[in-house]
Amino acid sequence: MGATDAFAAFDLGGKYALITGGASGLGAATAELMTNRGARVAIADINMDAASDIARRLDGVAVPCDVTDSAQVRIAVQTTIDTYGALDVMVNNAGIAPPPDNDRFQRMINNQMSRLDPSITAEPLDILVNLSDGVWDRMIRTHLYGVFYGTREALAHMTPRRAGSIINISSILGMRPSASAPHYSVAKAAIIALTKATSAEVSQFGVRINAVCPGYTDTPLLSHYSEMMRSVIVSQIGMGRMGVSDEIAQVIAFLASPAASYCTGEVFSASGGYLS
Ligand SMILES: NC(=O)c1ccc[n+]([C@@H]2O[C@H](COP(=O)([O-])OP(=O)(O)OC[C@H]3O[C@@H](n4cnc5c(N)ncnc54)[C@H](O)[C@@H]3O)[C@@H](O)[C@H]2O)c1
Repeated sequence: MGATDAFAAFDLGGKYALITGGASGLGAATAELMTNRGARVAIADINMDAASDIARRLDGVAVPCDVTDSAQVRIAVQTTIDTYGALDVMVNNAGIAPPPDNDRFQRMINNQMSRLDPSITAEPLDILVNLSDGVWDRMIRTHLYGVFYGTREALAHMTPRRAGSIINISSILGMRPSASAPHYSVAKAAIIALTKATSAEVSQFGVRINAVCPGYTDTPLLSHYSEMMRSVIVSQIGMGRMGVSDEIAQVIAFLASPAASYCTGEVFSASGGYLS
């Protein structure tokens, strides 16, 4: 492949993409980057005001969709196909985060310090024992069920066409589970397993499926974190800063493009060198 061809391989002209959770953060940055590279996008989100604003700006389409509801995901995929005539790229990105808990975060730091300084007393965090059925269920439903529903609906269209790229947004915590968020870590690790299992089934039929594991990225998802929490997080990142949405969108857009033609069942992380 020559240098000019190499750049052409990143082009998304003539591609139609559906991005769940595309109304904010990483999803919105991905919608914008893919549009700039020639794709037409559908933004599926529970926040229709924001989704409509972005769709209007990008000349795309906004689709109301709660990814925890399989019927709504089916309708979102069908609407995209009805609008554009095809679905080439599915980005399963919609997500939520556990609410920040400053007090518990302080105790986690304290417990780590107690390993170095015997005068500091460690205290149990009681994270898992305090996780309710409802909170656990919502986390798993949003992330794992959302990706399952999105992948299932996209594949029903892509496999018969022998073409398509599905990108599932996991997390660095799916690779390195965190004591502070066991439900989130489990959901994101399961997304990696689902990505690999499904890729093994369909890669023979022209559909590529990959997972992206962002590190801490400055989006509205983290907007409630205190300065103290942000400082501690940044101290665990080799590059000494959080990522910005476009840095993750670049990885997602690459996986959507012909440049990633030999990538499937893979896990791509972009974390600035997360050290934890
Ligand atoms: N920001 C980070 O540091 C980070 C790190 C690793 C992974 N991630 C993952 O990246 C993805 C995007 O996160 P973000 O940081 O852009 O967050 P964000 O809060 O900025 O955007 C998330 C979007 O998902 C939508 N959403 C939430 N629940 C939904 C549902 N049930 N159905 C449809 N849409 C729903 C929200 O309305 C919002 O538009 C998530 O899966 C998140 O877990 C983020």
